[in-house]
Amino acid sequence: MTLILPTTQLPLIDVFAVEDDSAQVTWRRLPDGHLTALVENNEQDLGASGRPGAAELRGLQPGVTQSVDLLVNGLITAQTSVCTLPATSASSTKIATISDLHFGETGFGLIKQLRDHGAGPDPYPLRCARSAARDAVEWGAELLIIKGDITCDSRPEEWEMFDDFLADVSIPIMAIPGNHDVVNQLGSRDCTEELQRRSLFPQPVTQRDIGGIRIVAVDSTVPGRSWGNIGRWHNEIREAVDTDQPAMVFTHHHLEERPIPCFWPLGVRYLDGIRIVDSLLEANPDLFLSSGHTHRNRMRRRRSAVITEVSSTKDYPGVWAGYVLSTTGVRQVVRRVSDPDSIRWTDHTHAAVGGVWGRWSPGPLDQRSFAHEWTRSYKVSPTRVQSQTPPEVWPI
Ligand SMILES: [Fe+2]
Ligand SMILES: [Fe+2]
Repeated sequence: MTLILPTTQLPLIDVFAVEDDSAQVTWRRLPDGHLTALVENNEQDLGASGRPGAAELRGLQPGVTQSVDLLVNGLITAQTSVCTLPATSASSTKIATISDLHFGETGFGLIKQLRDHGAGPDPYPLRCARSAARDAVEWGAELLIIKGDITCDSRPEEWEMFDDFLADVSIPIMAIPGNHDVVNQLGSRDCTEELQRRSLFPQPVTQRDIGGIRIVAVDSTVPGRSWGNIGRWHNEIREAVDTDQPAMVFTHHHLEERPIPCFWPLGVRYLDGIRIVDSLLEANPDLFLSSGHTHRNRMRRRRSAVITEVSSTKDYPGVWAGYVLSTTGVRQVVRRVSDPDSIRWTDHTHAAVGGVWGRWSPGPLDQRSFAHEWTRSYKVSPTRVQSQTPPEVWPI
């Protein structure tokens, strides 16, 4: 019996991400040929169409809806529209996050596992993570935050794959563990030691300032367990966000939305998470929290706080998240990894769990790409990462 059904159709063309002056379009089924876009009658060359794929529309007008025609070899093949986000302050800094790399994974799916066949020498977790980091750097990210589940079982060869990944990343990195990194199985390495050996995880609550924003990375793992806990670091997190600048808190585990969890996997217990968010808001009303773990994209608000979940690099839709930081607000944009061999695999995983995965994981566009204004006005000018004092051991 298989759980993979032929009922999981994607739209011909999908506007997956929008910013103020650009958008990412992705497709699963376009004829082979040369792809161009007509955006309000301005032609843009997008290269080869192939399938599946992703392309960038540039030079868009901020805050308006624009019609887009996609042409393959000069013939209109798909039509859509793009509603861009409002323009942000010209003075801004960009950072990016990835999560749930799962180095060592060889198949995806609950019962019937999807396998990657013949797409190059690199296994799909490494291929997708590399593509995500490369896209993020090209986009302009100055800092990469890895939000856990770096490995499948914290085995030596999985950490070696992580080293292969790190060798390609040219910007500073912060990293926190996920539940898969602390499985405590026979033959597993100690994740804390592995990260600290690479100078990526100085302490369970790590902070640094960039672009006038306080970045706080929190270890939410419970060794040997799949669920999370951040209550033990309550005081440390509150101290970190108690600052005269907005604060972004990154964890592996999501904060449960309801007292009784209604989907798998389990995250941080509802009362534990909500109690802490309310406490942090007393210290700082401009709070943005983001996690991985669920392998899905969602956004919700609690009072003035924004809480997001961002999905994995290596299963559908296969993404990374970019954040444009400014003194007036933050813009989140979740983009699909664009490398053709990577997006071919992540599109394949759309069919997992009988196609339910492809409908569950992406989340709506306005919960992936959105702008959020801070409640207070800030005078600190955004600073670039390089102007701060990075530890010498960071891989640059
Ligand atoms: Fe994961
Ligand atoms: Fe996880």
